[in-house]
Amino acid sequence: MPHSSTQEITDIILKAANKARQEIKPGQEKSFTNPVKWPIDCLVGPGLEGAIACESEIGYVNGSSGELIYRGYNVFDLCAYSNFEEVSYLLIHGHLPTAVQFKKFKKDLVSYRFVPKTIRTLMSFPVEEMNSMAALRLGSNLLRREFSYVDQRTYRPDYPPISSDEDSIPMETRPMGEKHAIYEFNNGKITQRNNKFSELNSPSGLKSCYQLISGVAAVAAAVSRMRQGHLPIEADPELSHAANLLYMLTGRKPTAVEERIMDVALILHADHGMNASTFATMVVASTLSDLYFAVGSGIAALNGPLHGGANEQVLHMLEKIGSVNNVKDWYQKARSRKDKIMGFGHRVYKAYDPRARVLGPLAKYLVEKSENKRSLELFNVATELEKKVVDTLGVEKKIFPNVDFYSGIVYSCMGIPADLFTPIFAVSRVSGWTSRVLEYLKNNRIFRPRAVYVGQFDLDYVPLNKRKGEKSDKK
Ligand code: ACO
Repeated sequence: MPHSSTQEITDIILKAANKARQEIKPGQEKSFTNPVKWPIDCLVGPGLEGAIACESEIGYVNGSSGELIYRGYNVFDLCAYSNFEEVSYLLIHGHLPTAVQFKKFKKDLVSYRFVPKTIRTLMSFPVEEMNSMAALRLGSNLLRREFSYVDQRTYRPDYPPISSDEDSIPMETRPMGEKHAIYEFNNGKITQRNNKFSELNSPSGLKSCYQLISGVAAVAAAVSRMRQGHLPIEADPELSHAANLLYMLTGRKPTAVEERIMDVALILHADHGMNASTFATMVVASTLSDLYFAVGSGIAALNGPLHGGANEQVLHMLEKIGSVNNVKDWYQKARSRKDKIMGFGHRVYKAYDPRARVLGPLAKYLVEKSENKRSLELFNVATELEKKVVDTLGVEKKIFPNVDFYSGIVYSCMGIPADLFTPIFAVSRVSGWTSRVLEYLKNNRIFRPRAVYVGQFDLDYVPLNKRKGEKSDKK
């Protein structure tokens, strides 16, 4: 797909890709690319390090060389030549679309951008007082009502709505969606379906994925607007997913370059193996809960500073460091305290994260064009810190910048507030979460690892009035 009007961005990506290809030794890691015979022997460390949760054809993170593959395609090529909608189609359907398929897919995505019921309901919550990821999670659950509830018929309960003098207060409108949602996994009748969930590949299963891809983006934009005291902006059906997101956030149609950079950022964040939020999403889906709840769990998991929340923390850290002259001292102190440096390190990558290879140069491009001198200063702080960390922790522990290190600078140059960095990550990752759920549920088995019990046995129960002495509470 040509990106002729933004060739300079494509050139930046191709340059980063060439550099990566010169520096890395390609080669697949056999233990992570060959089918396994279940049950499988694997060496498992704390935090389930090394555990194989499932087989997947969706994406591969080559941690030793620093490569990221979606459905066989290198992410560098997808950034250079594709776009977020096409990548989402690829992740969900397993192949690049034909022109006809792509047109239909884009049309579907556009139709799900309009979520008035969700936004209206969200506006009745104190969104400005909520963490933006909490508001996004709430919104993703509200989307469930917008899209899945068959409640178009005006339903009135056959009992009086709210009566405050009763012990149990009936809800004004009963949660009919539990009963009538299109996307309920088998409505609880698991046994009758032989534990196969073919309906997930049916139009309604896919439809939920599409609805979430568009809907979560619309909610994220609305949340950001509300938190800044502005009214949400209605989606523009003529714009691409990336451009519409920026438009709904800022109220201004983005330039071709802004659109392209946001598109690349969305592609880079779309999928990433069995990371914490993907696993959280899959665990919830594996109970045959519901895709909207599952995505809500993904959002919750992504929020943490050890995962997607790191991008916001990085910007705060760079601001705290303040200037290039402070980097050395700050880093020495952080190391002596054994602090984790935000935006560095990764469970899987023991090489430079390919996503940071693209986002770093894009951040450079943007800060050099920006009139805001502060962003250039922060970028310089970032590159100085990167040098220090790579020269020390890089050599000692193979710790390099990860995706979150430069993404915040990219977003803030585009006028996006820091508390929206992680929601934007979620907007993109919905594609990966939903495609992995669809794939897993074809042969679903509930996730249920075990814990090793290291507590006591055979204690005698002592009644409360006979217990003596103070025992400190175990944490
Ligand atoms: N700064 C300093 N030291 C680090 C860092 C870091 N960012 N990351 C890891 N280390 C060190 C650890 O202290 C540990 O050292 P030790 O062996 O001497 O005890 C060693 O490297 C291994 O680190 P673990 O924390 O065991 O690695 P783990 O795989 O459990 O954690 C994680 C990975 C959470 C990403 C970690 O590197 C980290 O906390 N990074 C900072 C937060 C961050 O940027 N998160 C975003 C990750 S990308 C994403 O989720 C989208």
